[in-house]
Amino acid sequence: MDLPWGDPRSNKFATSIGLITSNGPHGHNIMACEWTHHLSYRPGLLAVSLGPTKTTVENIRMSKEFGISLCASDQTILASVAGGYSGRHYDKINALKELGFQFYHGDSIEVLMVRGASLSAECKLFKEVTFGDHVMLIGEVSDAIHNSEKESLIYNNGKYWSLQSIEKSNQETRQSIKDILEKHRKTPNNIDEI
Ligand SMILES: Cc1cc2nc3c(=O)[nH]c(=O)nc-3n(C[C@H](O)[C@H](O)[C@H](O)COP(=O)(O)O)c2cc1C
Repeated sequence: MDLPWGDPRSNKFATSIGLITSNGPHGHNIMACEWTHHLSYRPGLLAVSLGPTKTTVENIRMSKEFGISLCASDQTILASVAGGYSGRHYDKINALKELGFQFYHGDSIEVLMVRGASLSAECKLFKEVTFGDHVMLIGEVSDAIHNSEKESLIYNNGKYWSLQSIEKSNQETRQSIKDILEKHRKTPNNIDEI
């Protein structure tokens, strides 16, 4: 079955928003990508799933590198501009500069990075794989810095949200959960029965 864009079932996911920067035949560009994921610690691999017609895909295929800046909670305008206009028709980078946002040149890639993001990861293209109607571009991280004063913006149900922490269960509850789990511990003798 399909799970289309805008479907209430698709809208249950909560994600951060990657601001994907690239530099290629379309010049410097930026797009918003909710499908930005951490795939591996060693080496650090990050994946972005993009519609195949995005200008960003053409840029990355040519240059083999891209930036992932995780949008901070005070950068909603950035997400909306990067995600609402195509680099085929608009110079989003210069428009965003005019709106007051700042960029800096990556250290290890010829791509601009977003100043003030919660995480800035410079990536070299590691692999491209097509899954269904999206292209997953996997990047090996060549340089990364995080901003401890910024929180990542959250995206859910087409809206922007901020992170709010929830108390973990108390010591007493954790102990009773542990006791129950111990009762259900698999042993070499009973593993076959389960
Ligand atoms: C919050 C937000 C999240 C988005 N997430 C994705 C995504 O995960 N994958 C994708 O292909 N497009 C996503 N988009 C749409 C692209 O950002 C949009 O089509 C953009 O114009 C593409 O830019 P480009 O053609 O310059 O590369 C998102 C848009 C917004 C506003």
